[in-house]
Amino acid sequence: MKVAHPIPYQGSKRHLAAQILTFFPDDATRLLEPFAGSAAVALAGLHHKKVASVVLNDANSALMALWAAIIDHPDEIAAQYRALWIQQQGQERAFYDTIRAEFNRTHHPDHFLYLLARCVKASVRYNAQGEFNQSPDNRRKGAQPDTMRDQIAHASRLLINRTSLHNLDYRDVLDMAVQSDIVYLDPPYQGVSKSRDPRYQASITFEGFARTLHTLNERGISYIVSYDGRTDAKIYGARLPAELDLAHIELEAGRSSQATLLGRRAHTFESLYLSPALMSRLGKDMHVAPHTLPRQLQLFESP
Ligand SMILES: C[S@@+](CC[C@H](N)C(=O)[O-])C[C@H]1O[C@@H](n2cnc3c(N)ncnc32)[C@H](O)[C@@H]1O
Repeated sequence: MKVAHPIPYQGSKRHLAAQILTFFPDDATRLLEPFAGSAAVALAGLHHKKVASVVLNDANSALMALWAAIIDHPDEIAAQYRALWIQQQGQERAFYDTIRAEFNRTHHPDHFLYLLARCVKASVRYNAQGEFNQSPDNRRKGAQPDTMRDQIAHASRLLINRTSLHNLDYRDVLDMAVQSDIVYLDPPYQGVSKSRDPRYQASITFEGFARTLHTLNERGISYIVSYDGRTDAKIYGARLPAELDLAHIELEAGRSSQATLLGRRAHTFESLYLSPALMSRLGKDMHVAPHTLPRQLQLFESP
């Protein structure tokens, strides 16, 4: 059976989750995901029994309310999604607008799930007032209700009684980390630290994030960070500071669709950074494919 993934979410790590799990130490029992989003790594970690429990956190309150509904009331949220999906038939565009307005008033989890299933690239966008303002993708009708019900039921079975949910800033949830945990950090994309990022309600600064990682090093916490990426020679985003002493791994993330359109066969790679405590915990048992061998870290330059 495939790993459940009920929440469509741009930036989901579902396609990289299996590779990320290979860096989990055998003795880790609990995973913390401070930037959980669709929780692809947590779901994969529980499915493959790499961890026994998970702590999920995200600054987006509607998203965490949706997770609570999926875990505790799977039949109810699946039935609500089915009702919305059926009601939209024949009036998809107008219905989306109605549900979006309703969601901005009430923040109901079923409305959020419907919007994520129908909106452009499953990508959240907010205006300055914090209202969800992403447009519908009129080719996306949203997952079939039976498929959604099965995904929700499977995710609920994996997560129930093994999950604690939080709606905090990532730094507050990291206060809960202990040395036996494994922490997976997938922060919002870079390049927006000076202005509001319409993709998310909250954001982080590069400097603040680097400082937080430094504190985690001092506390001996085992963590993995997804950060920059690369398409063959072009690097997206700044590398993390070399002073953090992180091991840099590159995961092959498939073909770049943009490059393929331009007739080139470019491959994309996503960086993973492994903390010093994790590296010593993994010791010599680590199996790393040759193309992912750690490369020289580049020094951080202030933007
Ligand atoms: C790249 S996404 C994570 C995707 C996730 N790995 C997945 O598989 O779906 C980053 C997430 O960080 C959340 N976020 C942004 N700023 C945050 C903050 N200061 N504290 C906690 N979460 C934050 C966003 O709401 C978003 O869901």
